[in-house]
Amino acid sequence: MKKIIVTGGAGFIGTSLVKALLRNDVEKILIIDDLSTGSKSNLDNFVSDNKIEFIHSKIEDIENINKVFQNYDFCYHLAAGVGVQYIMDNLSDSLLTNILATHKVLEACQANNLPVLLTSTSEVYGVAEDKVWTEETKSLIGPTTKLRWSYAASKMIDEFIALSLYEEKKVSPIIVRLFNIIGPNQLSKFGMVVPRFIEAAINDEDILIHGDGSQSRSFTWVDDVVTYLIKLAELKAYGEIFNIGQTEEITIKELAELIIEKSNSNSKIIFKSHEEVFGKSFEDPNRRTPGIKKIVEFTGIKPSKNIEFMIENIINYKQNN
Ligand SMILES: NC(=O)c1ccc[n+]([C@@H]2O[C@H](COP(=O)([O-])OP(=O)(O)OC[C@H]3O[C@@H](n4cnc5c(N)ncnc54)[C@H](O)[C@@H]3O)[C@@H](O)[C@H]2O)c1
Repeated sequence: MKKIIVTGGAGFIGTSLVKALLRNDVEKILIIDDLSTGSKSNLDNFVSDNKIEFIHSKIEDIENINKVFQNYDFCYHLAAGVGVQYIMDNLSDSLLTNILATHKVLEACQANNLPVLLTSTSEVYGVAEDKVWTEETKSLIGPTTKLRWSYAASKMIDEFIALSLYEEKKVSPIIVRLFNIIGPNQLSKFGMVVPRFIEAAINDEDILIHGDGSQSRSFTWVDDVVTYLIKLAELKAYGEIFNIGQTEEITIKELAELIIEKSNSNSKIIFKSHEEVFGKSFEDPNRRTPGIKKIVEFTGIKPSKNIEFMIENIINYKQNN
């Protein structure tokens, strides 16, 4: 694949993807990003590279998008409203972006016969009770009055649109459901737990846990994700859904303790209920562990980094940047 479109390419995962694609010797990359949560400084690493073209716009506002998408080989669609804090602060905007922009991207891919990879999320499983969430696990999201589920619902709509178009032989989509991705470049200001805790620890500030900290998550290294994204495109895994994540679980309280230990911090851990932080319409899954048999068998690749490595690496980066 020589010519690639990356929507959301100035964001956290998008930046790592663009870097990896450049290392893989692509001919041209078109980045489309409105910089709503992405950062111009992420792009500074690439601006001098004449393989990169950047369109600074909301996808929804691009005129003639079918023409813009002409003469490319593949589209990675990452642009979305992301992060619990961001979603709760931008409810209707992020909901509409996630549905309308994705629809527009899929239509442009259809018009140009362009295969597309969509980044969905573990949120689509909601609070499913299965011990391990496989791609076939039944979703259990809360009522529409609990607005945090709007993110999950919008990503489910994206998946439905893509899979319907695939069934009708109009688009060739690959869908990945990402589980808590972390890495050095992730920002804290949109509520992501790891950068938020690490920045507090480095500054010896209180580390605020939402809830009692017994909820567990499994964190995955961003470069592992990018390796999978590139491999799935190469393997033309059209019409398929894959979980991408780590199976190593850690509770949020253990995570805070690990970060304090690894950063030699004097921070104290404090707790606030989800209701206090996000209001009444919030609820959160207690556990979130992906079944990754499908992606490991399909690609032959296992996630490569454990939580200690990831935390040490991010602390080191944040202390020096
Ligand atoms: N980070 C995670 O843990 C995680 C987990 C599950 C799913 N995902 C999915 O992965 C993708 C990338 O997430 P990320 O963590 O890099 O987030 P991010 O916020 O860093 O990246 C999203 C990018 O999209 C851009 N964007 C948003 N709305 C846009 C629009 N309407 N038009 C053009 N650009 C727009 C933002 O400016 C940003 O650069 C998203 O689709 C997200 O839902 C991420």
